Amino acid sequence: MGKLEASVAMLALALVLGLVSGGNFYDECDATWEPQNCWTYDGGNSLSLALVSNSSGSMIRSKRQFIYGTVSTMIQLVKGDSAGTVTTYYTSSVGDDHDEIDFEFLGNETGQPYTLHTNVYAAGVGDKEMQFRPWFDPTDGYHNYTISWTPCTIAWYVDGTPIRAFRNYEHTHGVAFPTSRPMYAYSSIWAAEDWATQGGRVRADWTRAPFVASYRGIDLDVCECYGGDCVYTCAGAFGGCGGLTGEQRGKMRWVQHNYRIYDYCADREGSKVPGIECTLPQY
Ligand SMILES: *[C@@H]1O[C@H](CO)[C@@H](O)[C@H](O)[C@H]1NC(C)=O
Ligand SMILES: *[C@@H]1O[C@H](CO)[C@@H](O)[C@H](O)[C@H]1NC(C)=O
Ligand SMILES: *[C@@H]1O[C@H](CO)[C@@H](O)[C@H](O)[C@H]1NC(C)=O
Repeated sequence: MGKLEASVAMLALALVLGLVSGGNFYDECDATWEPQNCWTYDGGNSLSLALVSNSSGSMIRSKRQFIYGTVSTMIQLVKGDSAGTVTTYYTSSVGDDHDEIDFEFLGNETGQPYTLHTNVYAAGVGDKEMQFRPWFDPTDGYHNYTISWTPCTIAWYVDGTPIRAFRNYEHTHGVAFPTSRPMYAYSSIWAAEDWATQGGRVRADWTRAPFVASYRGIDLDVCECYGGDCVYTCAGAFGGCGGLTGEQRGKMRWVQHNYRIYDYCADREGSKVPGIECTLPQY
């Protein structure tokens, strides 16, 4: 078989196996940091990001900029010893007083669980962390991570299960909420040895490098922005404020009850005062 026939056959096989899901990294993303540590395969449908040393990881960013939308990808986190590493998947605006919606995956020693960290920044203010233990092994295969951003709610989903929601209480209670700064979607892997694993006690074992996170498919169902002033016309499509269904709320309660390990609303350490949103329903 020639090269072309081989890749056509591979593509046909991938289609049969259902490997082709969602958009293509080659079309949707640019490597914005250490591109030599980032590579695509399966015709651009799969991607790997490698952390090679304490100062050389990798990052991709969506080509499209958007206000509101849903971003999904399938990730298989670093297998084995991932202590000292952080894999991120987030949306963020550019510039001052930025908005950001985060998933961060904090690595651990072999056999010890990852921490799934979430946060939201609005107008530069974050400090809204919630952390979870995954109820599955996120290194044993690909799992679907989704960020959903509408004018009403931000929701974080894992394999279709909502784990957290953050409702828009800007007009009613003055809680800052991202509505106006266009965001890009990002993913990266980097070293955060000083804090990531067990508070920094466990460092990365660089003899195990490269540490690799793998991705399959990137779905950007977004209201795209064009130009400096962000001309966009489709926000209405994301304006449905129906919120989560009863079944989804039930699942989210199950995750929060059994797998949440940190909630900023419950943190009374030092002089922390929980925001007003902590007393309001989030879904
Ligand atoms: C990274 O590793 C180099 C070489 O081992 C070391 O000199 C440097 O201090 C390390 N940097 C950080 C930020 O840990
Ligand atoms: C990932 O989850 C989202 C939200 O539930 C869903 O819309 C999307 O189809 C899922 N993607 C895949 C590849 O299963
Ligand atoms: C790593 O494993 C330890 C021991 O099970 C656990 O306390 C810690 O929360 C885990 N996660 C991180 C990121 O340190």
